[in-house]
Amino acid sequence: MFAVSPERLRALITAFHEEMRRGLAGEPGSLKMLPAYVDIPTGKERGPFLALDMGGTNVRILWADLPGNRSVPVLVGDLFQLSRDQISADAGVLFGAIARFIGRFLRTRGLTGPQRMGFTFSFAIRQRSIARGELIGWTKGWTAQGVVGRDVVELLNRALAEEGVAGVRVVSLNNDTTGTLMAGAYLDPDCDVGCILGTGTNICYRERTAAIRKPVGPYDKEFMIINTESGNFNAALPRTRFDALLDAGSENPGLQAEEKMVSGKYLGELVRLVVADVCTEGFLFGGRLPALFAVPGGFGTERLSEIEADVSPNADGTLALLGEAGGGAAPGDARFLREVVRSVSGRAARLAAAVLAAIVSKNDPGLDATHVIAVDGSLFEKYPGFRARMEETFRELYGERAGCLRLAPVSDGSGFGAAVIAAASSSG
Ligand code: GLC
Repeated sequence: MFAVSPERLRALITAFHEEMRRGLAGEPGSLKMLPAYVDIPTGKERGPFLALDMGGTNVRILWADLPGNRSVPVLVGDLFQLSRDQISADAGVLFGAIARFIGRFLRTRGLTGPQRMGFTFSFAIRQRSIARGELIGWTKGWTAQGVVGRDVVELLNRALAEEGVAGVRVVSLNNDTTGTLMAGAYLDPDCDVGCILGTGTNICYRERTAAIRKPVGPYDKEFMIINTESGNFNAALPRTRFDALLDAGSENPGLQAEEKMVSGKYLGELVRLVVADVCTEGFLFGGRLPALFAVPGGFGTERLSEIEADVSPNADGTLALLGEAGGGAAPGDARFLREVVRSVSGRAARLAAAVLAAIVSKNDPGLDATHVIAVDGSLFEKYPGFRARMEETFRELYGERAGCLRLAPVSDGSGFGAAVIAAASSSG
């Protein structure tokens, strides 16, 4: 069920091109194709900036001193985790927590005086300029009331004022993919795609401004970055009945179809649904479902990583893991579970690769140029074999020309990229 043939991937790529065309023309479709009002940096951007990165597993704040010579900046940062309540209450609670976190960072790092800040907000935002944008809709399980349709920069500024955090000026707003592309392109001028493979997944790329046929706000550069919101892609996807089940139980049914097959928030749940089904049929765990698989969301993608790392011939590591979690598992159960994990993660990596290939091949069908793809996110960084399977898929699709697609991990990209955007937009 989870195998995807090269023909299927090629059909997906063709469908993706059509959805891109529609999105750029403002026609109805599954790709929003959101203008980001920024082009890749010159690499000469310099100076100290704050960067706030919000919308993944953790909230991050960074102080970045850009060197202006295409090298990694000095970064000083802190992390904090928002609680389930904070992401599901309302705008005041959410942005209040963020503002207090920023205040604490400034105090503990002794940062006084005016600070310019770039803001990475990892959701779909409708922008008309670089320094503001409204949330189109939540994804990844976030649901805070009173944010959809509002300018998130204004919400942040208001919270900073209410919490008495003075001196911070938000000069730019961007999606995390855009931040990652900007960080990648700051380091390497061949970088023209930014990709997140983490809790969620999404891709942005560099497009000719003239190719954006829908109305665009004031912008005078020849190229502009487009946030595709590829996680919402929903045409020619090889969905199974488990994908439909997962969707029905999610916070945003009917949306983010590709993301729900690819990203870290969902892979564990997909495996859980398959296991629960096969167990109900009586073919696993003697028909009694272990507690580990009993609760929706209870089997996380970290577990998948552990199982994936088990390369023993008989899945001994997986058996031990099942034993630790309680419940009686036989060696056959462990081998089956590992096979399910490999199938679900394998499909995810192949789809992730195909969607990247679709984006690059829209404007370079012959893969004549080198495309450095900046990638950030926990799934790509930490999941055993994910990157290798993506690269294998590129080769399957393009043979030798696959060498033109170069995956480049940029850790902290979505954070330091916000500083690059802040610098690029401050200097005009
Ligand atoms: C979700 C968001 C998107 C973001 C991605 C990765 O798909 O809608 O904006 O880039 O997650 O964090």
